[in-house]
Amino acid sequence: MKFFIDTANLNDIKEANALGILDGVTTNPSLMAKEGIFGDQEVLAHYKTICEIVDGPVSAEVIATDFEGMVREGEILAALHKNIVVKIPMILEGIKAIKYFSNKGIKTNCTLIFSPGQALIAAKAGASYISPFLGRLDDVSTNGIDLIAQIRGIYNNYTYDTEILAASVRHPMHIIQCAEIGADVMTGPLSAIKALANHPLTTLGLEQFLADHAKGK
Ligand code: G3P
Repeated sequence: MKFFIDTANLNDIKEANALGILDGVTTNPSLMAKEGIFGDQEVLAHYKTICEIVDGPVSAEVIATDFEGMVREGEILAALHKNIVVKIPMILEGIKAIKYFSNKGIKTNCTLIFSPGQALIAAKAGASYISPFLGRLDDVSTNGIDLIAQIRGIYNNYTYDTEILAASVRHPMHIIQCAEIGADVMTGPLSAIKALANHPLTTLGLEQFLADHAKGK
């Protein structure tokens, strides 16, 4: 499973990248706003900076909600760097835009996926990735992992090139469940990625090894 980090925070991106296990980055307008990144030029420059840090796909989201606007914005984003993936919302205008970019060989990430039907139509349009929002479904008492499993089952019946990018991942158990189900990619915060390495028995065991080694000094 590929690991993407879901943030626009440059320190977190650098820290995750330094682990050597980071495959890409996803952002969204809320994550950009959280970092105080506003205005077209500032946003574009920030995407470029991220692309210079991580050698992998970087999802950059369009703001327009009409086909022409999405195409206009998406082409500007795609021209920024070879690793940019144009992130497009799951609406019918978005489906048209995904098909347009797919025909042009520009990669897309269809975001805000909350149902298997949405995942199916996005794959048919040629989305490179679809982003089912796991945590946000859990937030409304609906099992997000079940949706990812359902999408995995549907995609396994066919030969779509679309990758399942499990998004809205919040904690390490989400990551483990995504891997069990066979999500192609997960995107989550640095805290969830780092937490995978933690186990109290590892901590205790290491302390013991170091203490025993010190006895010989
Ligand atoms: O980037 C999309 C998604 O990962 C958002 O996550 O935590 O805001 O639901 P969250």
